Amino acid sequence: MHVIVCTLTEGAISSNDDVDPAEGGAVSTPQTLGLERELVPGWSTGTITLGCDYNPEQWDEQTWVDDVQLMRELGVDLVAINIFGWAHVQPTPGEYDFSRLDRIIELLHDAGIKINLGTGTSSPPPWVARVHPETLPQAADGSIAWPGGRQAWCPSSPVFRDLALSLVRAMAERYGSHPALAVWHVSNELGCHNALCYCDVSASAFRDWLRARYGSLDVLNAAWGTAFWSQKYGHWDDVLPPRTTRSAGNPAQLLDFRRFSSDALLDYYRAEAQVLRELSAAPVTTNFMVTAHIQTQDYWSWAPHVDLIANDHYLDHRLADPLAELAFSADLTRGLASGAPWMLMETSTSAVSWQPVNHAKRDGELQRTVLGHVARGADSICFFQWRASRSGAEKFHSALLPHGGTSTEGWRSSVELSAVLDRLSGVVGTRVDSRVAMVFSWEAWWAAEGDSQPSSLMRYLPEAHRYHRALRALGVTVDLVAPGADLSAYDLVLVPTLYTLNDAAVSVIAEAAGRGATVLVTPFSGIVDEHDSIRPGALPGAFSELLGVVIDEFRPLAADDAVTLASGGTGSIWTDALRTLPASSTSSADIVDTFVDGPSHGRPALTRRSVGDGSAWYVATVLDDDSVQSLLRRLCVEARVQVTEVGPDIDLTRRTSAEAAYTFVINHRAEPVVVPVGGYDLVSGETVRADEPVAAGAVRVIVERSDHGD
Ligand code: GLA
Repeated sequence: MHVIVCTLTEGAISSNDDVDPAEGGAVSTPQTLGLERELVPGWSTGTITLGCDYNPEQWDEQTWVDDVQLMRELGVDLVAINIFGWAHVQPTPGEYDFSRLDRIIELLHDAGIKINLGTGTSSPPPWVARVHPETLPQAADGSIAWPGGRQAWCPSSPVFRDLALSLVRAMAERYGSHPALAVWHVSNELGCHNALCYCDVSASAFRDWLRARYGSLDVLNAAWGTAFWSQKYGHWDDVLPPRTTRSAGNPAQLLDFRRFSSDALLDYYRAEAQVLRELSAAPVTTNFMVTAHIQTQDYWSWAPHVDLIANDHYLDHRLADPLAELAFSADLTRGLASGAPWMLMETSTSAVSWQPVNHAKRDGELQRTVLGHVARGADSICFFQWRASRSGAEKFHSALLPHGGTSTEGWRSSVELSAVLDRLSGVVGTRVDSRVAMVFSWEAWWAAEGDSQPSSLMRYLPEAHRYHRALRALGVTVDLVAPGADLSAYDLVLVPTLYTLNDAAVSVIAEAAGRGATVLVTPFSGIVDEHDSIRPGALPGAFSELLGVVIDEFRPLAADDAVTLASGGTGSIWTDALRTLPASSTSSADIVDTFVDGPSHGRPALTRRSVGDGSAWYVATVLDDDSVQSLLRRLCVEARVQVTEVGPDIDLTRRTSAEAAYTFVINHRAEPVVVPVGGYDLVSGETVRADEPVAAGAVRVIVERSDHGD
């Protein structure tokens, strides 16, 4: 049985009574996570927490009893309930009925299982839309999102908020001090379906947000560049969300609407959290969606408001390299947690049911993907969901307990996984080592992919993924950091397609180079200010001086075009007509590589400028994957960052504490690989030599400098 230890310094929950430190129980040091509350230590468990969503509303009460018994057998520590419970606890406007929720909570509590308690507000019951149709969200073209799915509510609706907060209050009053309560789970995946609402209520809230940001219409007009195309506003009521237009919209308006929409849901989250904190001392969080297909929340601004960083991640088979995206997402989630351990709040044991083709996980893939998250900082692994649904939209989604019950392959995989997690207790609380930072920005993602850009082929996330993927293949772990974050711990700093950033963030990057770091900037970076207006002076305005280059013109390529570089590498999508500043200038760069054909032939393709004790590199095209890898190899040598050539489909990371170090090697390939790490392997329970190949599909977690932690 996994044992949860969750202790708040404020002392409300202390459920670590049955932890034996000899079994890897918490010997914890308080630490501030830069969050609103100080936790000991973050989300602390004696072992890696195993958890799941449970939607018992679908089952009869005898099934609950059987389920809880099986949860104990599997070693489930933490169960998320009431995530979609609103229609059950408030079946009609004037009536709360907590009787079934009471019973399921008692069953779980009696079994020693902790609760991740949903406030239940994610999806309102059908009566909400009938009685309060004004709470339904509207798309940009004015069409209404009707009930019948989930999350059919407008984030800015005061009516919805009142209804939801009444429920939250009732929940907190009833369960806020329950000894089984480990963490509050606000709503669910806020913004998954309803992040952008264009209704009149949202329009009015958008205007309030703009008033607070700009103070006056004059300032707004200047920030949005409304002097162009006759867009100048003379009355606040004329300002609207960027509803469907016949032409391109105003990019600054679009960018601010993105910001507003992220803030509106954050404000909503905070309103729920405030009620919970008034009435309960349990930590409060919500599940983020740090994935490739959701971009609506700027989680850098959300992170300080949750007591524990929790993320939902599913392998996305619509992408070319889903495993590389998993690694990216996990590193970014760790960045949101400022390096502290975090919780994987949801993932799947096998197939999901919302992709065009829902791939089942192959043999061992459950273990490899889950440990991929642990390798990058997760201390808790939870699944959607416990028991596979028989009805409804997710009946083909995998679960810890598949339709066929405990005689299935799926159940056996769940049991094996639980056993492996048990062996990793020592990993809990350790931190991932990294000397490489990548600056990541949701704002740059929004703005770079707006209307009317030089090329719609220039996409933000693929460029960040490309560099991250190449470093993963070099066995180098990357910390994802916010623009403006402290870079002093890093020897190599990557700045992919940071189209917009503010002056403070520019200075931090320049200072990193001056202090001795190697900095690499990739195309379409530093072009505009925070209002999506071109920065004054030579392009790229934010970085021209640091990089010692000037872009005379963007010269993007057609979809099937490529350019050749003198080094033999190739580029696609983008070229700059680049030149270096004259050698006499204080800020001149060396030309490292040149375009030999294409629209920018003869111009520099790669430059390097020595800056203080470090350097600033610029690459003027979207390099092919091999060229990205050779470039990064070279930069790692310069920055004295250790490279281990593991190639694609291998994860190699290290988690350390003062007492121990754990090296994770995950071989996603169908053949054995040699990764030069030997020692005691917690997964197999055997000592392995560094030259012994890691079997096809196998995972090793090598522990050093302490006992075996088991
Ligand atoms: C999300 C939701 C869950 C469920 C899963 C399915 O993560 O939060 O309710 O729909 O997706 O993958």
